[in-house]
Amino acid sequence: MCGIVGYIGDKSPTEVIMSGLHRLEYRGYDSAGVAVVNNGGLQCIKSLGKLKIMDQKLAEQPLDGKLGIGHTRWATHGVPSEVNSHPHFDMQKEIAVVHNGIIENYQELRDQLTAEGVTFRSQTDTETIAHLVRKYYQGDLFAAVKRALQDVTGAYAIGVISKDNPDLIVAARHGSPLIVGLGDDEAYIASDVPAIMKYTRKVLYIDNGQVCEIRRDGYKIEDVHGNPVQLEVKTVDWDDAAAEKEGYPHFMLKEIHQQPDVIRNTLRGRVDEGSEEVKLPDMNISVEELKACQKIVIVACGTAWHAGMVGKYLIEKFAKVPVELDLASEYRYRDPIVPEHTIMIPVSQSGETADTLEAIRIAKRLGAKVASIVNVVGSSVARESHGVVYQQAGPEIGVASTKAYTSQCTAFALFTIWMAEARGVMSKAQAKEMIAHLRAIPDKLQWVIDHKQHIIDLAALPKYRDAQSALYLGRNYNFPSALEGALKLKEISYIHAEGYAAGEMKHGPIALVTDELPVVCVAVEGDTYDKMVSNIQEIRARRGIVLSVATEGDEGIKQHSEDVIYVPSCHEPFSPIVVAVPLQLFAYYVAANRGCDVDQPRNLAKSVTVE
Ligand code: M6R
Repeated sequence: MCGIVGYIGDKSPTEVIMSGLHRLEYRGYDSAGVAVVNNGGLQCIKSLGKLKIMDQKLAEQPLDGKLGIGHTRWATHGVPSEVNSHPHFDMQKEIAVVHNGIIENYQELRDQLTAEGVTFRSQTDTETIAHLVRKYYQGDLFAAVKRALQDVTGAYAIGVISKDNPDLIVAARHGSPLIVGLGDDEAYIASDVPAIMKYTRKVLYIDNGQVCEIRRDGYKIEDVHGNPVQLEVKTVDWDDAAAEKEGYPHFMLKEIHQQPDVIRNTLRGRVDEGSEEVKLPDMNISVEELKACQKIVIVACGTAWHAGMVGKYLIEKFAKVPVELDLASEYRYRDPIVPEHTIMIPVSQSGETADTLEAIRIAKRLGAKVASIVNVVGSSVARESHGVVYQQAGPEIGVASTKAYTSQCTAFALFTIWMAEARGVMSKAQAKEMIAHLRAIPDKLQWVIDHKQHIIDLAALPKYRDAQSALYLGRNYNFPSALEGALKLKEISYIHAEGYAAGEMKHGPIALVTDELPVVCVAVEGDTYDKMVSNIQEIRARRGIVLSVATEGDEGIKQHSEDVIYVPSCHEPFSPIVVAVPLQLFAYYVAANRGCDVDQPRNLAKSVTVE
């Protein structure tokens, strides 16, 4: 996830662009760049690190002009560096492109362009767009962009300018957000409304497959084949403070809502439509290593550890390899045994968690191959691992992890299918079926979000909102869901909450059940459903307040539960991804009703870089 801004008009383009980029810094902040058309040429400044470094550079070397584009980056292809930061250029440096998204066929395009004599400067997927536009440019930039995009698959929101066109920005969208702002004799492009709210409230929401020719006094929109498109100009009435959160009161709620797109992004480029194969080349593990693997060790902390538990259940069930799941803070202080052919999978959103890093160093010393699941590109965990699967979830700002968790579970699902197929324990037909189930998940998450009103109503009831304590129960794949649901509630609402494997209830925790104790029971369809219902009955018999999370259409569960939250029917092994969303929403609304600081709960930090 990155942020793009463009401006054409009488104001200083760099001022408008930098002001917009600051409003988009939540989308990425590892490097930035601005290019303007000036004196018949393109001028550009780039910087590594946060936008304040770019501000300093621009103060020392101001860029002037009547039009420009800028970018704040969240690296996906190529480490954060000046050379990989946007804008990217054609070989002659006459066409500049900023891009948010992922070009899935970039390697193929890169090979093809290289064979045609193009020299690449960066490791990014974006640079291919600049060279493609050049390839098709015959004096009409709008036409060249439309033609270039016909060669591209993947997700993009782009802004393109050229030396020859001092009065034109071409922008296009497919899968990544893009708006056009309209002013008096001026126009803007941006990834998100907050970037331009200071200047205009008149906005066009560009849709997938649309390309725009934007001039200061007008615009034209077509699809990539040149068919005209009409869009209604909308007026935005958000107040400024809510704008960065796109109208959501907290980043956590915004990030919960982003999950359908996040899961699509985690899958993007790794499973093609109709495919029976998973591609994870950046893990840097060969098929021979997958076949020879004797043991997998997963290490992580907090929510990432819960995702690791989902990974353990999946890998053991389908890839048939023993998995050891460790809290990174424990792994480093015991004497772990690392047999030959061990693969370690560290999991970390930030990629900077101190304990996880130390666990990696120990495992490497003991001879393990380390391939991590990480969100932040170029982070320490990614750099110290032999390979990596980037989650592609975009920056997570809320301290309570939400979208990072579901994308980590998705990454484990991908890894499982890949490993199971490589080891010959999953047929192509089964892999294809599993992939289809995975691809169906974003719509199921959207269903939960669309039906959130019931969760909002429940979270306002005093029996939940004012509870002193809560239990969360689940079995099998949804034991980690219980742990994660409880962690979400306790960290943001300060209600004491514990997650348990439902089978453990009778071994102690059932003593806690009273008519004041909410017990959240994950009882979705699947192999352990009947056992969960028995546990629910045991709790009800002791007058506990049962809130069940069940599969849509399960009317029977109502007679055993005080309240029910439904989720759509789902392939059981992937149900933790779907179940996570109502548990996040429930915790969020309980905490918000209690007046808690949801995004920055007391005593917590987003990234735990000390022991
Ligand atoms: O950045 P990491 O994924 O390594 O962070 C691990 C934990 O600190 C993190 O998941 C923490 O538990 C979250 N606050 C949970 O919401």
